[in-house]
Amino acid sequence: MSELTIPTTTLADGTPFPLLGLGTGSPKGPEGAEVVAAALREGYRLVDTAAQYGNEAAVGEGIRRSGIDPAEVLVTTKIAGGDQGREAARLGFTESLRRLGLPSVALLLIHWPNPSRGLALDTWRTLIDLKEEGLTAHIGVSNFRPEQLQELFDATGVWPEVNQIQLSPALPRQEALAFHREHGIVTEAWGPLGGREGLSEQFALHRVAEKHGVTTSQVTLRWIRDQDIVAIPRSSNPERRRQNAELDHLVLDDADRALLASLDLGEHKAWDSREHEEW
Ligand SMILES: NC(=O)c1ccc[n+]([C@@H]2O[C@H](COP(=O)([O-])OP(=O)(O)OC[C@H]3O[C@@H](n4cnc5c(N)ncnc54)[C@H](OP(=O)(O)O)[C@@H]3O)[C@@H](O)[C@H]2O)c1
Repeated sequence: MSELTIPTTTLADGTPFPLLGLGTGSPKGPEGAEVVAAALREGYRLVDTAAQYGNEAAVGEGIRRSGIDPAEVLVTTKIAGGDQGREAARLGFTESLRRLGLPSVALLLIHWPNPSRGLALDTWRTLIDLKEEGLTAHIGVSNFRPEQLQELFDATGVWPEVNQIQLSPALPRQEALAFHREHGIVTEAWGPLGGREGLSEQFALHRVAEKHGVTTSQVTLRWIRDQDIVAIPRSSNPERRRQNAELDHLVLDDADRALLASLDLGEHKAWDSREHEEW
């Protein structure tokens, strides 16, 4: 089968960045390593992991098993809540690199702001240092609201290059997107298929999928891609991974977009990082 071709967006410094990556919340262990290896052989190059997922060793093993040059693989990992802080973040990240078996990563994120700890800014300062030291090519955050992003910039003069947020047609996050665009921050969508929101059962989504003869996942991922948002769907199934990447033949029109707009559950349905914390 032909290798997948994955289009790119552009980070603030001009670096191309894939618009599709592989999510890896599960499976873990040897099975997880196999999924990563297979996805890389199929043509995926961006792999999303986190210290919190307990699968960094499996991701590293998958990269080695894939036969793809590790230098070509873009790994994202994240600083866990319990590792926030000036020194703790450095130690946490050192452990991530050890588990991954890599000298550096492509993208390092702060997983959640966790305001009750008050350590996000210290953690951000450490990420800036780690980038300067070449241990991560790019730095960003996850689940930060506009005002939380602004705080990082006001204190350091450095915007995150990426903000990975919960986003799908059920949670279009228009305010966050507008803020990101204004400040050159690339948006990355987690939970892009909207499983937590019951998106795939929605009649409007099925209408659009049937009209184009594609799956509901493809409609969702095309809608995300059309907004220049990176999506990181997770799948253990090779056929679905291929489907999630093959979107070129699908062109959504205004009527489709109007139907998809009706799926918006409202911003209040997104996990709110002023209250939701993950350590
Ligand atoms: N930063 C954060 O706080 C945060 C939070 C959550 C997730 N994430 C990241 O985002 C990634 C994606 O989010 P997610 O895993 O929550 O949800 P998701 O990728 O939206 O959905 C994954 C589910 O969809 C199924 N699936 C995938 N492709 C499909 C297709 N074409 N047709 C039908 N079903 C399909 C998968 O099952 P099969 O495996 O059986 O295909 C799996 O059950 C995670 O893996 C993780 O890397 C980040």
